[in-house]
Amino acid sequence: MSVSKKEIKKVTTNVLQEMKRGGQKISMLTAYDYTMAKIVDDAGIDVILVGDSASNVMAGHETTLPITLDQMIYHASSVVRAVNRALIVVDLPFGSYQGNSKEALNSSIKIMKESGAHAVKLEGGKEVKESIERILTAGIPVMGHLGLTPQSIYKFGTYNVRAIEEEEAKRLIDDAKLLENTGCFAIVLEKIPAKLAERVAKEIEIPVIGIGAGGGVDGQVLVFHDMVGLNNEFHPRFLRRYLNLYDEIKGAVGNYIKDVKSSDFPNSSEQY
Ligand code: KIV
Repeated sequence: MSVSKKEIKKVTTNVLQEMKRGGQKISMLTAYDYTMAKIVDDAGIDVILVGDSASNVMAGHETTLPITLDQMIYHASSVVRAVNRALIVVDLPFGSYQGNSKEALNSSIKIMKESGAHAVKLEGGKEVKESIERILTAGIPVMGHLGLTPQSIYKFGTYNVRAIEEEEAKRLIDDAKLLENTGCFAIVLEKIPAKLAERVAKEIEIPVIGIGAGGGVDGQVLVFHDMVGLNNEFHPRFLRRYLNLYDEIKGAVGNYIKDVKSSDFPNSSEQY
């Protein structure tokens, strides 16, 4: 039996909060286009992140820095057209919020107005406090992102695990509390020690979603292309691959080429 749009209980920021309180884990994946977002939503994912990782996996850039606000809106609006249930969060891209809080508010309003998404995500702690406060004044839910923050890759110099040293770990805990007190509805913790992530998840009340942050947090997020093995060049320890689509698709394309070259395709039942 098919379920009509009206019968579906949509995931909201309140639902995520209830899930944390009830000890129910939150599932989150990235998506950047209509077709993939439809599959991910139909499968029952709780949160879809239109991540600025689109800069890497969709556009082939080395970092997340080049993607623009308009490009993020293009990806987000394609996702919005596909989704019935999941909460859709969109990354504020590099350069669209760091300048000042007014710019952060304007960028967030543009995303919400032009894409129809439900929330924005931005990277950083106390340095983005004012921006978060200003975005919240417009009624736009904000997700934080701490630990490895890829928009700062040129400051870090590497994609290695963050907050191993006590001083950085302490700063991260302070920032997580600050993001909660400022009004973020959830936080992503990327590539930090599992024990530290678990401690943060216990010390704050909003959901903590991990990527490379162990199992002691309130939910997990992965980049869709990595999870289904569309990308065969990225093998971090935290990644669990559920498919090997790179090889499967390459094999299928190879078979198609062979069939075209040998005139096996199309056959008599594949034509008019
Ligand atoms: O852009 C992205 O995909 C992300 C996730 C890695 C959390 O920010």
